[in-house]
Amino acid sequence: MNSHENVDFDVSLALSVAEGAARSAGALLREAYWKPRQVMDKGVNDLVTESDRASEQMIVRVLHATFPMMSIVGEEGAHITGSDPFTWWIDPLDGTFNFVHSVPRFSVSIACVDASGEVLAGAVYDPMFNECFLASKGAGATRNGVPIVVSQAARLRDSLAASGFPADLRTTDNNTQEWAAFVPRCQGMCRMGSAALDLCYVAAGRFDLYWEYGLATWDMAAGVLIAREAGGSVTYYTGQPFDVIKSGGLLSSNGRVHAEALEVFEAVRQGSQ
Ligand code: IPD
Ligand code: CA
Ligand code: CA
Repeated sequence: MNSHENVDFDVSLALSVAEGAARSAGALLREAYWKPRQVMDKGVNDLVTESDRASEQMIVRVLHATFPMMSIVGEEGAHITGSDPFTWWIDPLDGTFNFVHSVPRFSVSIACVDASGEVLAGAVYDPMFNECFLASKGAGATRNGVPIVVSQAARLRDSLAASGFPADLRTTDNNTQEWAAFVPRCQGMCRMGSAALDLCYVAAGRFDLYWEYGLATWDMAAGVLIAREAGGSVTYYTGQPFDVIKSGGLLSSNGRVHAEALEVFEAVRQGSQ
């Protein structure tokens, strides 16, 4: 039990409830994955399925039942204002493009964030690989209950890098410059399609670095905590400490290749790339 801004808050209860909600919603997505699905567009190339919505409804039910005074924000419209100074941020299906195209790489992401923007607990569940990544602040990160740590790679040329691209294809700030700058410097590149999982892969030492611009809090808050608790670094492209509420350009790495990656962003900014 932590005393947080004069409110007693049980972080380990929060984490276990988040894990339960993520696993239940993941089971729902796993079942839906094998069935025909109806796809709608919320905006420009901003896809949503009935499974995104069903997953969110299930998660909100579970979280609200145990923490009725907490606020909840979900990507698919959930918005509850509670009196406690903590908020659940929910991405009920991170990787909707993959889900729509029957690519089995997507996740459920749930984070508990305090009023100052500190992530206290995070759960990311990959239902198709049955991998559950968890972290609470100061207590380390786990994959299916086993502690995880970031990789040892010390140079970009020994690194597997991951990134993502904005869904809105009209934007000109579309990460192609940064991608082009990293390609010749890294050992390999990956676009997996779930920001939450990308961050967990950094935490698990699978990716050595991951960057992406313009993520929402529900995409990355849980993964940011999991990556940090596994020993990783998470900053803006400039090296400043990353704020999960404000978002912007996020660079996550094993820490060892961070400075070299920041130089790449600097080169892109200077146009010397
Ligand atoms: C998306 C995924 C993707 C990232 C996009 C996100 P969604 O989330 O995390 O990897 O590149 O920026 O919007 O829309 O599938 O929940
Ligand atoms: Ca997302
Ligand atoms: Ca989503």
